[in-house]
Amino acid sequence: MNKPDMRVTLAGVELRSPVIAASGTFGYGVEFEEVVDFERIGAFVTKGISREPMAGNPSPRIIETPAGMMNAVGLQNIGVRAFIKEKLPKLRSIPGAVVIANIFGYTIEDCVEVIRELNDAEGIALYELNASCPNTSHGGMVFGTDADSLHHLTTRCLDAAKRPLMVKLSPNVTHIGQMARVVEEAGAQAISLVNTFLALAIDVETRRPRIANVTAGLSGPAIRPIAVRMVHEAAQAVKIPVVGLGGIVRAEDAVEFMLAGATAVQVGTASFADPRAVENIANGLRHWCAGHNVAKVSELTGAMVR
Ligand SMILES: Cc1cc2nc3c(=O)[nH]c(=O)nc-3n(C[C@H](O)[C@H](O)[C@H](O)COP(=O)(O)O)c2cc1C
Repeated sequence: MNKPDMRVTLAGVELRSPVIAASGTFGYGVEFEEVVDFERIGAFVTKGISREPMAGNPSPRIIETPAGMMNAVGLQNIGVRAFIKEKLPKLRSIPGAVVIANIFGYTIEDCVEVIRELNDAEGIALYELNASCPNTSHGGMVFGTDADSLHHLTTRCLDAAKRPLMVKLSPNVTHIGQMARVVEEAGAQAISLVNTFLALAIDVETRRPRIANVTAGLSGPAIRPIAVRMVHEAAQAVKIPVVGLGGIVRAEDAVEFMLAGATAVQVGTASFADPRAVENIANGLRHWCAGHNVAKVSELTGAMVR
């Protein structure tokens, strides 16, 4: 087979490949202009954008772990107004760049405000709402670990959004299928998972946490089998498209997530080891489909055999 059809539709947006660069690992996209051919990847997700600029957490905030990494970068970013003024115009000039804006806030109003600001800006395909954020008006309980908060957040953001909204779920929950259903019932057009797993690493000589923030998020190949299981559970629970991620480093990993039920996939930590990872995985997936008689990549979604 020569040319498999690599197109997928996500929340009404057609992507030329199901392989997307994940939030926080691809900057604002502009940093990758010289490195990655944006015409070869499906889309990219921006670093998380908040209402006001944020400095992030103190160092050390990133460490390597067996088959992965831990980070407590603390959602450092330039804020929504600077993103619109300084980054979006450049992004609009990159051929083929499909921009997914990642949004977060410590209150629902903050998230809504970011969406309102972005609504009037051109050059964004859809929004990804990061639900792995503590809700400071509710004692710091993470939005995505409490069904009521998640429902409320999603509904309010959907009311404000003039573009399709994908909600990125926290994996730090007991029943991921329930959280997926909450988001679908609220009306979201897609979900993505997983964000990082809450983790702790201690230096046994100094007896201090290895990350200044004490806890941090674990990502990379170490989390992949858990992420695949969660994507499968979420995809079984809802009808809206599920975007799968967590430790994808090769085309075969992307296939695995799609067989588990993902419509598209994201590549995060792999971009730190190889900045061209997203493009390589997108190309590799096309070759894999061609070599396995898969005429349409979308045929893989949910095609696990039991
Ligand atoms: C350094 C770093 C920063 C991240 N920043 C964000 C962020 O701003 N918003 C978000 O939704 N996810 C963020 N993530 C989570 C990733 O997008 C992804 O969900 C997670 O790392 C799992 O995928 P991976 O194993 O392919 O990296 C970040 C991850 C890393 C490693």
